[in-house]
Amino acid sequence: MRTIPTIRRVTPLIGAEVEDVDLGALDDAGFGAIRDALMAHGVLFFRDQDISIESQKALGARFGELVVHPNDPGLDGHPEVMRIHADENSVRATGERWHSDVSCDPTPPMGSILRMHTVPATGGDTLFASMYAAYEAMSDRMKTLLDGLTAVHEGGPYYREVNRLIGRDDGGREYPASEHPVVRTHPVTGRRALFVNQMFTVRIVGVPRGESEALLDFLFRHVQRPDFHCRFRWSRNSIAFWDNRCTQHHAIWDYYPAVRSGYRVTIRGERPV
Ligand code: SIN
Repeated sequence: MRTIPTIRRVTPLIGAEVEDVDLGALDDAGFGAIRDALMAHGVLFFRDQDISIESQKALGARFGELVVHPNDPGLDGHPEVMRIHADENSVRATGERWHSDVSCDPTPPMGSILRMHTVPATGGDTLFASMYAAYEAMSDRMKTLLDGLTAVHEGGPYYREVNRLIGRDDGGREYPASEHPVVRTHPVTGRRALFVNQMFTVRIVGVPRGESEALLDFLFRHVQRPDFHCRFRWSRNSIAFWDNRCTQHHAIWDYYPAVRSGYRVTIRGERPV
C-alpha cells in the first residue's frame, strides 16, 4: 500500500512538518506530494531521516541539478555537498544573518536540503521567513515603488569576510555578482516575493545612494517581522527543505561550545524575473 505523506502547517504563512515519509525511498506519489507541499508552504521539515549522503544527493537531484557552492570546497568526492558545522573551535557559524542562499549568482538556487546528524541539546534553531508574506504586507504605494526596481547582489563582501574569519586564503578569486529584480515572480506559483537580503544585496540600481540605503534598510528590517516567520527546532536526523525563491532563513548560533553538524545540497534555480 502506498503511504501519502501527512502535511501539518507550522504557521498560516510559512512552513509545514511532513510525516509518514522516508526521503531515502521516495516513490513518484511521495515526490509529487512533497513538491506540491514545498510550493504551498515555502519550507518543509522532516524528522528521523537517517539517510546517506548519496540518498540526500539523489533526493536533491529529483528536483534539479545540484550546484557547487562558490565559496565552499564541498566534501571529498562530493563537491556539491556543503558541510554545515560549528563546534568549540569555531569562530563563526554558517548563515547567521537573514539571507537566501547564493543570491549573488545569476541563477540563484531553487532550494536547499539540509540534514543535521548532530544537534546541540538545546539551541541551534533556524528561522525561516516568507518573502510572499513580506511583499504582500507592504502598502500598495510601496509595492508600486519596488515593482520596477532591480538590485545588485554581490558575493565578494560576505565570502571574503567568511574567509578572513576562518583564515582561508581565497587566492584573490572572483565571486559572482548579479542584478536581480527587487520583487520576483515565482516561476511555479506565480506569486510575487521580495528578493533582497542583508547578506548579499548591496544597492538598488538607478536611485541615489542615500535612497538605496534607506530603502534597503527598511526592507531588511521589514523581513525581520516575526509574523512572516517560523522557527525550526532541529533533532538528530531532521531535514529542512526550503524554496530559496520565496523564503529567507537565519541560523542561530546560541549553542557554543556544543556541536551542530550536517550536510546541505543545493539545487540550481533560474534567472529571477
Ligand atoms: C544555511 O544554509 O544558511 C545554514 C542553515 C542552518 O545551519 O540552519
